[in-house]
Amino acid sequence: MKLTPLQKARYEYNPKLPGMLRNGIDEICVKEGAATESVADQEKIKALFPNTYGKKEITFEKGKNTSMKKKQVVGVILSGGQAPGGHNVVCGLYDALKATNKENILFGFLGGPSGLIEDKYVQFDDAFIDAYRNTGGFDIIGSGRTKLETEEQFKVAAEVCKKHGITAIVIIGGDDSNTNAAVLAEYFAAHNTGVSVIGCPKTIDGDLKNEDIDCSFGFDTATKTYSELIGNIERDCNSAKKYWHFVKVMGRSASHVALECALETQPNICLISEEVAEKKMSLSQIANQIADSVNARANKGMNFGVAIIPEGVVEFVPEFKTLISEINELLAGAKADAFNALASWADKYEFIKKGLSAESFKVFDILPQTIQQQLFLERDPHGNVQVSLIESEKLFSALVKDVLAERKKNGTYNGKFNALHHFFGYEGRCAFPSNFDADYCYSLGYNAFMLIQYGYNGYLSKVSNLAKPASEWVAGGMPITKMMNIERRHGEDKPVIRKALVELDGAPFKYFEAHRKEWSENTCYTYPGAIQYYGPTEVCDLTTRTLALEKGIKID
Ligand code: FBP
Repeated sequence: MKLTPLQKARYEYNPKLPGMLRNGIDEICVKEGAATESVADQEKIKALFPNTYGKKEITFEKGKNTSMKKKQVVGVILSGGQAPGGHNVVCGLYDALKATNKENILFGFLGGPSGLIEDKYVQFDDAFIDAYRNTGGFDIIGSGRTKLETEEQFKVAAEVCKKHGITAIVIIGGDDSNTNAAVLAEYFAAHNTGVSVIGCPKTIDGDLKNEDIDCSFGFDTATKTYSELIGNIERDCNSAKKYWHFVKVMGRSASHVALECALETQPNICLISEEVAEKKMSLSQIANQIADSVNARANKGMNFGVAIIPEGVVEFVPEFKTLISEINELLAGAKADAFNALASWADKYEFIKKGLSAESFKVFDILPQTIQQQLFLERDPHGNVQVSLIESEKLFSALVKDVLAERKKNGTYNGKFNALHHFFGYEGRCAFPSNFDADYCYSLGYNAFMLIQYGYNGYLSKVSNLAKPASEWVAGGMPITKMMNIERRHGEDKPVIRKALVELDGAPFKYFEAHRKEWSENTCYTYPGAIQYYGPTEVCDLTTRTLALEKGIKID
C-alpha cells in the first residue's frame, strides 16, 4: 500500500489513555461498585439473564494488578456500519493483551459477526497491527450486519471458540450488536463455556449513549467531517449568494448528527426529526417553516441559504409514516406482481390512487414524481419501502419551491430560489479518527482487555468523563443488562439496549432552539474547517458541542 504523508505521521501518534491506565499493566486494579439493575422492566430482564444480571459496575484504579495470570485467546469482531476509530479499538486491545502476556493471542473474525460462525479469521501480530494504528476504516478485518441472535448461532460460536481455545470475544458495535453481545454472554455463562463477551460502543449515529456511556465512538470524527463540508458550503453560499443548499446528513433515525452539525455551523435551517414527531408536523408544515426562512432572507436581499436535513426525518412525519405502511400493505405478497406488470407510470399511478386511503393519497400526491417513483421502486427483499433511500433533501426543496410559487402568486414573496442538493454520509465514516476518537477508541480497546483479564462477562467497556482531558477520563465497565429494557420489535417483546434519540429538553437541543430564529433569518455561519491532528490542544482535542453541552460546559 502506498502511504500518504498523513498516514505515515499518524502511525507515530501515541493515543492518550485515561490517567488510571497509564501506569503499566501491573498497576491496574479493580474497584467494584454497587450491584446494578436494568433501566426498566427489571423482573423480566433478570429472568432472561439469570447468569449475567445484576452484576456490579466497576472502575479501574492505580494499584496492584490482582487478576489471574491465565493465557488469554481473544477474538474481536467489528459489527455494523463503519465508524472512525474502530482500528484503534483493536490496537488498544492488542497492546494491553500483549503487554499482559506475550503468549496471549488476538484473532480477528472477518466480515463482521458472520466471521465467528463461519470460522473465518486472521491472527494478529505486531506488523499487522502497526499498519492500522490511528487510521480510519474497518478494513483491518471488515465488518458486516449479520445478527448473532439465535440459539443455533450461539452453539456454533461456542464450538468455534472451543476449537481455538478462545477465552473471550470482543464485539465492537451499536445498540443492536451490544444487545446481542449480552445475549451471547448469557448463553456462554449458562453453558459454562468459560468464554466471556465484552462490548464496545460504536456508531457515528451517536444514539448509543446513556447515563453510563457519554457517547459512542465515531460520532466525533464523522460530525467534524460533515461540519467541515457544511462550513465550506456555507462559505461558498455566502460568497456566490445564489443558491439554497439542502444537505442531508447520515444518522439513521436519530438526529444527533444533524444537531451537532448545526451547532458547529449555524445553518439557516436544521430539521430535528424528534421535534417533527413530537409536534406531529406534516410535510407541508415543514415546507412552510423552511419557506419562511427563504422568504425572510429574500426580503433582506439574501436569496441563498443552507438547510440540514437528518437522514431519517420522513419516518418521523406521522402522515408519511402512515403512507409508507399503506404502501407496504398495498404491495404485500402477490399484489406487487400486479403492480409491476403495469406498463406505464400513469397506470401505476391509478393503481396507487385506488389502493391508498384518501388521506394518504393526498400526501402521496404532493410529492414530486421522482420521490413518488422512489417509494414504489426502491423496496427491500421483503417488499417494504426503503425509507433511507428516499432523497429527502430533494423532497423538501421541491416542496419549498411549490410553497414559494404559491406565495409568489399571492404577492407575499418576491425572491429567487435555486436549490442544490448534497448527501453526506459515507464521507465521514472512515475518516482518520480525530485525536478524540483515536484516544477514546484506543482506551476502549485497552480497557476491554482489562475487563477480560479480570474475568468480567457481559460488560460494556466504559470510558467516561470524556468532556475533560484524557488524563481525567475514568475507565471501567458496566454490565450491559443495566442498559436494557423490554421493547416491542417485529411483534415480539425483546430485551434491548434503549436507543437514545435527541431529547427535546436536553441542553444541545435547547441551545439550538434558543438560536435558530436568528440563524434562520440572518447569516450567522461558522466555519469549523478540517479536523486538526497536530497543533494546540484547543484546536486538536475539541470534543463535540453536543458532549460539551450535555456535560454542562458552556459553549459560545
Ligand atoms: P451503525 O448503526 O451500524 O453504526 O451504522 C450507521 C449508519 O452509518 C447509519 O448512519 C446509516 O443509516 C447506515 O449505517 C447505512 O448503512 P449501510 O452501511 O448498510 O449503507
